Amino acid sequence: MSKGTCILAYSGGLDTSVCIKWIAENYDLDVIACAIDLGQDQDEDLGMIRDKALAIGAVESLVLDVHEEFGTDFIVPAIQTNALYENKYPLLSALSRPLISRRLVALAHQYGAQYIAHGCTGKGNDQVRFETCIAALDPELKILGPVREWNLTSREAEMDWAQERGIPVPTTKAKPYSVDDNVVGRAIECGVLEDPANEPPADVYTITQDPTRADAPDPQYVTIDFEQGVPVAIDGQPVTPYQAIVTANRLAGPHGVGRIDMVENRLIGVKSREIYEAPGIMTLIAAHKSLEELTLERETMHYKLGIEQKWAELVYYGMWYSPLKRALDAFVASTQRFVTGQVTMKLYRGTATAVSRTSPYSLYDYGLATYDASDRFNHKAAGGFMELYSLPIRVWSDSQAHLSELVDARYLAGTGAGTDADAGTHSSENTDTNAGE
Ligand code: ARG
Repeated sequence: MSKGTCILAYSGGLDTSVCIKWIAENYDLDVIACAIDLGQDQDEDLGMIRDKALAIGAVESLVLDVHEEFGTDFIVPAIQTNALYENKYPLLSALSRPLISRRLVALAHQYGAQYIAHGCTGKGNDQVRFETCIAALDPELKILGPVREWNLTSREAEMDWAQERGIPVPTTKAKPYSVDDNVVGRAIECGVLEDPANEPPADVYTITQDPTRADAPDPQYVTIDFEQGVPVAIDGQPVTPYQAIVTANRLAGPHGVGRIDMVENRLIGVKSREIYEAPGIMTLIAAHKSLEELTLERETMHYKLGIEQKWAELVYYGMWYSPLKRALDAFVASTQRFVTGQVTMKLYRGTATAVSRTSPYSLYDYGLATYDASDRFNHKAAGGFMELYSLPIRVWSDSQAHLSELVDARYLAGTGAGTDADAGTHSSENTDTNAGE
């Protein structure tokens, strides 16, 4: 009779295979292995992974297809938020962990398990995400991170330990990189990439083609329809959010869109060099952003930029289920009401550029924007506006500027303004309607 039951997030790889036996031996628990299908590339198919867990000694082995749930509940909010951690990383691993956690917790409840285990190392973000998400959903559950605990310090030691217990070990040479992937893209670390001075070798990329190659494809146009910030059709074909990512990957990957090379700040304090390839989400975010440019009122759009950054940081930090993240979700959702319309993206040599956008809720007003004869903008009113808008700075200039270090002689000389008697005194001119800005 074991001491209880543990739900293990199982990938089929060496670490989590060793976890099955290690948890049984060291904690005397029944292990239920659970593999989650997020659309990742598999070395082995999920049926084989299921059987492998049973062969190693799991009392039960499950494979869950969560494609549509991943699309609707996780990828959609990321697109609506234009979420890029440190302005670059589209959060692909960070988006998957809260979904996996939610499923593990549900299984723990279903099977009456007291423990959940993951195969994360002690140095990464993923352990943080699992443990924070699980804690938020059920603080009673106990969490095991065997890879952090065991003293199988090298891959060889781990393979020996596995072999002694009849756990199948990889027969091929260790892969040169550590990869996490799902339908949103791939995260690649380790090996030669650990020196940030090294350019990534060509073989790190598998879902995008080299955008600089001689036979890179010609420009390709793709139309994306959004309804309230959700991609609903690509090139006229209706899609679910999951299908939108799959389709966008297929279209943008050959153009080499979405390759990202960065040094990022992990939550645990280490800087790490990361390579990502995420063609679909980068294309969808760029398209979504350009539709927001057309449909969001200025102040909302500016305010949202800060919210986007905070949202990405919270998700990166594993705070998917936190009250602040939920409050920001509500803000973002309310901004998406009129983000409906169509965007045409041009894919070419590593870029996905919005070249056309239309919306029934467009705030773009031709009569206000144009410089031709149909101009409805009140140029005279602009003069009064300038007077009042510049009033505080004019008062400051009169009474304090000469006392401020900023506006000393050298500063004025540098701008050339110090020698011009008129400088800074005129209010508005240039009413030439052909002049543009
Ligand atoms: N640095 C990325 C993140 O924290 C990718 C993590 C990839 N995970 C992995 N187990 N290789 O989200």
